[in-house]
Amino acid sequence: MPIESPERKSLHGQWTSKFAFILAATGSAVGLGNIWRFPYVVGESGGGAFVLVYALCVLLLGLPVMMAEVMLGRKGRRNPIQTMEVLALEEGRTRLWRWLGVMCIGTGFLILSYYSVIGGWTLAYVFRTAGGLFTGTDAETVKSVFKMLTTDAERLIAWHTLFMVITVAVVSRGVQAGLEKAVRYLMPGLFLILLLLVLYATTTGYFTVGLEFLFVPDFGKLTGDSLLSAMGMAFFSLSIGMGAIMMYGAYLPKESSIMQTTVLVAVSDLSVALIAGIAIFPIVFAYGLEPSSGAGLVFQTLPLAFGKMHMGALIGTLFFLLLVFAAVTSAISLLEPPVAWLVEKWRFQRQQAVLLCGFAVWLVGLGTVFSFSIWVGYEWTLALDFGKVKYVLFEDKSFFDIIDFLTAQVMLPLCGLLITVFAGYAINREACKREIALHEILFRVWHITLRYIAPMGVFVVMLTPFGLLEFIKGLFS
Ligand code: TRP
Repeated sequence: MPIESPERKSLHGQWTSKFAFILAATGSAVGLGNIWRFPYVVGESGGGAFVLVYALCVLLLGLPVMMAEVMLGRKGRRNPIQTMEVLALEEGRTRLWRWLGVMCIGTGFLILSYYSVIGGWTLAYVFRTAGGLFTGTDAETVKSVFKMLTTDAERLIAWHTLFMVITVAVVSRGVQAGLEKAVRYLMPGLFLILLLLVLYATTTGYFTVGLEFLFVPDFGKLTGDSLLSAMGMAFFSLSIGMGAIMMYGAYLPKESSIMQTTVLVAVSDLSVALIAGIAIFPIVFAYGLEPSSGAGLVFQTLPLAFGKMHMGALIGTLFFLLLVFAAVTSAISLLEPPVAWLVEKWRFQRQQAVLLCGFAVWLVGLGTVFSFSIWVGYEWTLALDFGKVKYVLFEDKSFFDIIDFLTAQVMLPLCGLLITVFAGYAINREACKREIALHEILFRVWHITLRYIAPMGVFVVMLTPFGLLEFIKGLFS
């Protein structure tokens, strides 16, 4: 018989209300993932079909996993490692589950290491746009400005350091203080400028071309890799699969509805990504840029729009400033779990814990800095050779690409899968029901999704690069 769970309190206090949680979780979800990563991954994966799979993954897999994370967090009221351990022991399961927490935190750590570098690019662009560098510019110049920044290791380190310092400063004050108010005003600001960019995109003459690219699916372009990458993108943009949302759930007041809050967060997150895509792709086609030009896509397209529009320098500066802000509110959610762990488990002072984690993340981030600058040309391939069959895990990838691949496409989905298994099987049904407080029918749907549909979905998608999709396509052709 499972022990009745005691009413726990988090060591770090609670959000002042349900809205504070929604704002913080939206702050975590909406970030560089939506505006920088989504468009370039869509561009590399061929458009419409990818977007469709991504949206389905957000709604059908992401949402239930997110609800599970918040539920576990609120039940455990601690960092992911200890939450897993405490809940597992309470349910009479093995404490080995804490290793899932360790994996989650490790994933966040690696993500933050490169997230901070890209955050640094965004910071640099605030100043470049404010200085009028892009006024009346052309595609060539914008490209070379980007190249000059990213190949200069020294500058990149400076911007990466500045971004990390800002993140560390915020987290050391505790994530609740100040975050709530800031997100309330600045997020809608970012959204407004995105809408302004969409308006600009309608004047390029390539608006419908962009829309077609984004929304008309060509399933022929769907490969096992792009399926996996769409699911990874969904996990990344929702901030799930590494305990960030679990951590924020630990600060959620008892009476708040988990379903309502998570639906709101997921829908805002999906909308921001789609709107960013609608703003960017018409510009890509109007200026004859390559949709598949990689991680620099946003930095090589939006400055063109700002260069042409009325008061572009001002609007552009504001845009990059708000994007920095959105990136910081995401970065703090990546840093909070390891910090909370050091404080709760090892009794560190918050400041010391933040400095230690911040420094370690910064150090790993140098790898990403170098892979754009002094390590250009160094690429790695990892292939498994089974005699007759050879499976290439990744091929000719830089350090940054490898970390990005490992975190977004392997570790996030894997942790997400294990989180659903933990919530669906290790925690008993009644305890789940009490914590999530859903209407009977909705609860059943969610619980079945958690136990069967989500784990199987993630598992199948993770296997598709091993030829499953080709096999299925073969069956029907
Ligand atoms: N979701 C954020 C973005 O879209 C990034 C992020 C924050 C994240 N916390 C996370 C990604 C946790 C994965 C896991 O920019």
